[in-house]
Amino acid sequence: MLPAPTPDALAHSQRVTAHLRALIDAAGGWISFAQFMEAALYAPGLGYYAAGAMKFGAAGDFVTAPEMTPLFGRTLAHAIAPVLAETDGEVLELGAGSGRLAVDVLGELARLDALPARYCILDVSADLRARQQDTLARELPQLAERVHWLDALPAHFSGVILGNEVLDALPVALVHWTEDGPLSRGVIVEGDAFAWHDRPIDDPLLRARAHALSLAPGYLSEINLAADALTASLAQLMDRGVILMIDYGFPANEYYHPQRHMGTLRAHYRHHALDDPFYLPGLCDLTAHVDFSAVARAGLAAGLALAGYTSQASFLLNSGLTELLMQTPPTDAAAYLPQANAVQRLVSPAEMGELFKVIGFVKGGIAPLAGFARGDRRHSLL
Ligand SMILES: C[S@@+](CC[C@H](N)C(=O)[O-])C[C@H]1O[C@@H](n2cnc3c(N)ncnc32)[C@H](O)[C@@H]1O
Repeated sequence: MLPAPTPDALAHSQRVTAHLRALIDAAGGWISFAQFMEAALYAPGLGYYAAGAMKFGAAGDFVTAPEMTPLFGRTLAHAIAPVLAETDGEVLELGAGSGRLAVDVLGELARLDALPARYCILDVSADLRARQQDTLARELPQLAERVHWLDALPAHFSGVILGNEVLDALPVALVHWTEDGPLSRGVIVEGDAFAWHDRPIDDPLLRARAHALSLAPGYLSEINLAADALTASLAQLMDRGVILMIDYGFPANEYYHPQRHMGTLRAHYRHHALDDPFYLPGLCDLTAHVDFSAVARAGLAAGLALAGYTSQASFLLNSGLTELLMQTPPTDAAAYLPQANAVQRLVSPAEMGELFKVIGFVKGGIAPLAGFARGDRRHSLL
């Protein structure tokens, strides 16, 4: 049984629904699923990420690694400190959510005496940017002057670009492979409700990608052109350094496996994963797993080299997660047990350890990252 929304939340969802219906009307009765997802998540003042919903943590809709334990961000700080030293560079965090990860990474970099001159954050959500500013002012006032919020990607950058669960939040195209070839699955209004409707694919890039995948009739899945475009943009602006993206997903052969014929698109509402992306628009997160082969190809085509690709468990363990946990004495059960539980969730193959991956790109000759030292599976991507 799903928790009922409050009257205010329901009224908000009705406003988001009206906005989506107006978009469909204005477009002549049909929009692509990527357009639907973009508006449902990011329409200013309305979308899930753009209108004050709680989102992260126990009181929200889902929990991300930085919300579970500071050890996640602290471990990432250890992973990136050598790159910052080598490049004398900055950090750019994409999609910083509540600001939690920035607090933990910066705090640990300070302890390591490895602070970058600037820690930049770029988030498409003005609402979350305000929340990040509150979090950093409250929790790390002594480092506040190093944190800068950007309105757009910089033209040039050296250092480390970091994104946790950003790629899965980008709008995806839905493709339905049929006897007549791949079609673009979009959204129409039928009576009072949204409904699916397939059309020929007019975007040549999407058409080419869908044809190349050549899946069996009946197969339905996502293609994330926005992730490719973002990766290519990051490649262009990177002068020297490393890009680390962490997310749930697989290489293409697993992503488009015959058994995954209904795709990976999900809605998240109050810690329930739903198959129906039309449920309470504006109150649900919409997300699709990441095709890491596509991300790898986009990066390579844009001039990056792969630094590695591995499970979250391997990356964190290689980067010193256990050693950081052991700084809390196990005899101090009240402090130790919650952290040990969170670490277990981060690395257990039954939880986040295996489904979540880390992909790293490098430009400009940087020493190999310890995070990929054992268990690198980049060969599985291409
Ligand atoms: C699932 S949340 C993850 C938040 C945070 N990184 C965490 O791990 O808790 C996705 C975040 O990405 C942001 N986002 C989505 N598209 C983006 C883009 N193109 N550039 C920067 N941020 C983006 C969202 O506003 C949100 O902050």
